[in-house]
Amino acid sequence: MSKIISPWRKDFPILSTTMHGKPLAFLDSGASAQKPRAVIEAMGGVMEAGYANIHRGLYALSQNLTASFEEVRGTVARFIGAGSEKEIIFTRNSTEAINLVAKSWGRPHLKAGDEIILTAMEHHANIVPWQLLCDQIGCVIKVVPITADGQLDLSAFEALLSKKTRLIGVVHVSNALGTHNPVEKIIQTARAYNPAIKILVDGSQSAVHMRINVRAMDADFFVFTGHKLYGPTGIGVLYGKYEILETMPPYQGGGDMIERVRFSGTTYKEPPFRFEAGTPAIVEVIGLGAAIDYVSAIGMDAIAAHEKALLEHITPVLRSVNGLRLYGPEDTAKKAGILSFTVEGAHASDLGMILDQCGVAVRTGHHCCMPLMEVLGVEATVRASFGLYTNGDDLDALIAGLEKARMLFGSGT
Ligand SMILES: Cc1ncc(COP(=O)(O)O)c(C=O)c1O
Repeated sequence: MSKIISPWRKDFPILSTTMHGKPLAFLDSGASAQKPRAVIEAMGGVMEAGYANIHRGLYALSQNLTASFEEVRGTVARFIGAGSEKEIIFTRNSTEAINLVAKSWGRPHLKAGDEIILTAMEHHANIVPWQLLCDQIGCVIKVVPITADGQLDLSAFEALLSKKTRLIGVVHVSNALGTHNPVEKIIQTARAYNPAIKILVDGSQSAVHMRINVRAMDADFFVFTGHKLYGPTGIGVLYGKYEILETMPPYQGGGDMIERVRFSGTTYKEPPFRFEAGTPAIVEVIGLGAAIDYVSAIGMDAIAAHEKALLEHITPVLRSVNGLRLYGPEDTAKKAGILSFTVEGAHASDLGMILDQCGVAVRTGHHCCMPLMEVLGVEATVRASFGLYTNGDDLDALIAGLEKARMLFGSGT
């Protein structure tokens, strides 16, 4: 295992530190990824020598930073294969991006009795905004079930489509199972049934692990969040087809999103600016741009290949741990570098604490997927998730930590 080495690990200063006297094996990139020097320096550089508010000042500092900020919009558009940077809205994170769609598209376009299809493996961020909408206007949520090995039941999905279906919200890669959902197929099926159905793809986990092309996928909305993509917190992206964004009213009101304000009435800018009220996360956008430039220089295909190699090596090793149950697809071709498991006789949080003592950082809990945990019949799982910097050594440390836990908990584990 230890021979799988990431050539990019050296770019991440934190990964040469120790935890409890052990080398840090950071296996919680699914929650938030570590930051490369390129991102840290880009953000520091702006604050040291290039900072001013944007879109307003006529002086050079403001003009220059406005240009750099707007360049990132183009960088994001190219990164996800959007047709134009006008389809890229900066939000705080994926959560805000989905709330924006629920409020600005859902509220005016849906009515009582209309149906929204979600899946049993959605993150709370792609459930609760729709529930809030349903509470307000009386629309209804239908849920696509999953199969025993953690994939979407596509025939059940087809059976849920009805004349009342208005929107489908689907996670591209499950943060709790690693499942890579066939969103292209889901979108084609929905389009064939009724071209007016809108599809929102939650790309929070997929944009990190694979190359994205929203136009080839034909998603109406696609969201992702900067901090999982090696960028800073406080910045996310909503992609929307321009002709749909044009039909949506502002999400929030305030400065920067208006054309003209009078007490008798206000007119708004065109998308995407209509949806970006107030001073944006300027430094964070620059950081996101640096993160995208960084992963693009490596190449998403190279990142995917590295993570696939790790996944293929670790999966049989993990399965051989006594009492361990791995959730999600058996076939590693159908998942990304996310491993969710329980160990008989040991609570996930106890395992997490023992692993921490071994220098191994994993996530334990429901992973903001409580409905999925209910389907799996567990309260919590342990989740080890990879990044482009993950080495075979990190996975060796995970297995060694689990062996230690096995000894502490007795033969059951
Ligand atoms: C699949 C998925 N969707 C949405 C989110 C929400 O991301 P954020 O908290 O950055 O809005 C996450 C974060 O864990 C996620 O994994």
